Amino acid sequence: MTMIMKTYLMFFLCSMMICAASTDKIVKSRKEIDVKVAQLLSQMTIEEKVGQMTQITLQAVSEKQGTKDQAHVLNDGALKDAILKYNVGSILNVYDAAHSISYWHEIITKIQNLATKESRLKIPVLYGIDAIHGATYTKGATLFPQAISMAATFNADLEKQCGEITSKEVRASGIPWNFYPVLDVGRQVLWPRFWETFGEDTYLTTAMGLSYIKGAEGDDFSEKNKLAICLKHYVGYSAPNNGKDRTPAWISERMLREYYLPPFEEAVKAGALTVMANSSEVDGISVHSDHHILTDILKGEMKFDGFIVSDWEDIKRLYTRDHVASSPEEAVKMAVMAGVDMSMVPQDFSFYKILLDLVKKNEVPLERIDDAVTRILRVKMMTGIFENPYPDPSMSGLVGNSENEEKNLQAAEESIVMTKNENNILPLKKGTKILVTGPTADLLSVLNGGWTITWQGDEEALYPKKANTIAKALKQKFGEKNVIYSAGTGFAKDVNIAETIKLAKEADAIILCLGEKSYCETAGNINDLELDTVQLQLASRLAELNKPIILVMLEGRPRVINSIVGKADAILIGMLPGMRGGNAIANIISGDAVPSGKLPFTYPKYSNSLYHYDYKPLEGAEGNAYDPQWSFGYGKSYTSFEYSGLQLDKNTISDTDTLNINVTVKNTGKVAGSESVLLYLHDMYGSVSRPVKQLRGFKKVSLKPGESKAVQFTLINYDLSFIGRENKRITEPGDFLIMVDDLSAGFKLK
Ligand code: BGC
Repeated sequence: MTMIMKTYLMFFLCSMMICAASTDKIVKSRKEIDVKVAQLLSQMTIEEKVGQMTQITLQAVSEKQGTKDQAHVLNDGALKDAILKYNVGSILNVYDAAHSISYWHEIITKIQNLATKESRLKIPVLYGIDAIHGATYTKGATLFPQAISMAATFNADLEKQCGEITSKEVRASGIPWNFYPVLDVGRQVLWPRFWETFGEDTYLTTAMGLSYIKGAEGDDFSEKNKLAICLKHYVGYSAPNNGKDRTPAWISERMLREYYLPPFEEAVKAGALTVMANSSEVDGISVHSDHHILTDILKGEMKFDGFIVSDWEDIKRLYTRDHVASSPEEAVKMAVMAGVDMSMVPQDFSFYKILLDLVKKNEVPLERIDDAVTRILRVKMMTGIFENPYPDPSMSGLVGNSENEEKNLQAAEESIVMTKNENNILPLKKGTKILVTGPTADLLSVLNGGWTITWQGDEEALYPKKANTIAKALKQKFGEKNVIYSAGTGFAKDVNIAETIKLAKEADAIILCLGEKSYCETAGNINDLELDTVQLQLASRLAELNKPIILVMLEGRPRVINSIVGKADAILIGMLPGMRGGNAIANIISGDAVPSGKLPFTYPKYSNSLYHYDYKPLEGAEGNAYDPQWSFGYGKSYTSFEYSGLQLDKNTISDTDTLNINVTVKNTGKVAGSESVLLYLHDMYGSVSRPVKQLRGFKKVSLKPGESKAVQFTLINYDLSFIGRENKRITEPGDFLIMVDDLSAGFKLK
């Protein structure tokens, strides 16, 4: 059991003691639900069952004139057919862009009217949405930092609150199901979905994922401000060999179990009831066809009793793209028999028709269909939509309210990682004359990334007028007359470098905002991790002026900037800090906020030297060297922290013992600040080579100048375990080291 599991266990035990009655209620209602599901199933025709397993996109039931400016029109006839003729169980997303809350209410009401009033068995439709960093597709929603930036806060409570707020705003829109959180461990920085992950570490991913789920689902996701979540993308999607989206990962069973499965295992234990399958292949096998991964491991070993939804069109792709099935029919049979319960078809009814035919011909047994439909109906009932299928208009005011926005600003501020601050150039004094330049200085899309208002997140015109870009926020902070904005370059081409250099000569300091445009999935593929040449040139030209340069990086993955790191006096790695990111960066630059973010990944120095912080001994031995730009966990503050008194309560422990660890952290600087205390473990010898260090705990503390706090951690046997030579989780007796900052202490496992 990990520390995260322990926290859950404690939480669970407390709830059991304090409100045994409510636990009883949940267990009882779960039993009641299973009885109701069985009764309903017994009345269903094969057509109705196969329909429940079918999910279509809203596009499939829309008029084709849906446009980015919101002139979306439902095709009422097509919607009627989908629900009454094809009995579809689920609909997802939008035609192309966010809807107003009132329009959402109109659409959901139409859908549920058909499903719960006109269909034979009155089964409500389960509407699902990609609300990744907030309610993506609801206008005016609170849009938080993306996962990679939330991970940089190393603040699990904030992640929980992000889950709570997202659930409120999505439910307020009338939608009960969210395709989130992403529990893919981000161990391939080239991958264009890297920013959707909580970074490279399994422990951090698990902890943030569980916190999100706790906030999003609460104890009972039928509550009107909670959502059913969907874990994705199960499993191994985040490690494509060539770095491109939806390409093969070569992950052995041991590495799968060591690095990629644990976040899913823990989330299933925490009650997650829907899982989306990985769109690509692991170890040569398309995951949508992999019975071992989907059924043996997830439904068997992990005892997952929710349902598996396919990813977008991925059952068809077994035939059209992967060629592991030689016909659309074989593809459907393969996926359903491997364990997929619902198909995100999503443009047509081909899955419905094919599966119906396969069942009639006894090629897919009815038991498999009944199992899938039972799982789907169970989740539907648990969301409460059988009782309350309609949106609640009284919740509309929850979307993007000021309380939520304040939390969002806090998250954005805590997510910014300062990796350099020579001669304490930051914070800049009020009144400083600033030139702000670069392709990410005056856009909102670059703060937010994909899944923002649209899928690609790049429709600048649809962004809220009241939100601030970095340039706008700096003007508000330092005064219009003190801040000049000049583009300098686009992402890949010179816009006005010469003019920008002239303007820079008049400034006291240059805020140089570089990075990536907004992208999502395959559209974000790159061929080179190094930042675009023209952006590096802008930095070099500005550096010739010998003015202080504050480099701000907004990016979905760590683009290599080694050639300009030495030219900047201060560096803020902003990644994707969300809709309040402009304000957060201006607050940090002015000193109204103190940086406390730490990197949740290892920032590479060279495009061809990609490391993880938890590298193996042989990667640092005999001429090999771990040489990143900045390591995982790195991040500076405007104050300083000193660690002392690292103590373990035992020198030797047995398999059943817990190990309590204490350490004191003191703010030795002049301003108040927050510090995430990171605890690492090193297993000195192991039959499978052990990483040089592994994160085993983190806690964020706020300290006034001169203040000290004692921080406690508890480790148990699971924390010392690894996947052994037999591909089973084991611990081995021997020596271990605990490391916190520069301190270390050893202990033995008997
Ligand atoms: C993505 C998923 C997403 C789904 C529905 C797919 O392309 O891989 O993450 O949930 O689309 O929008």
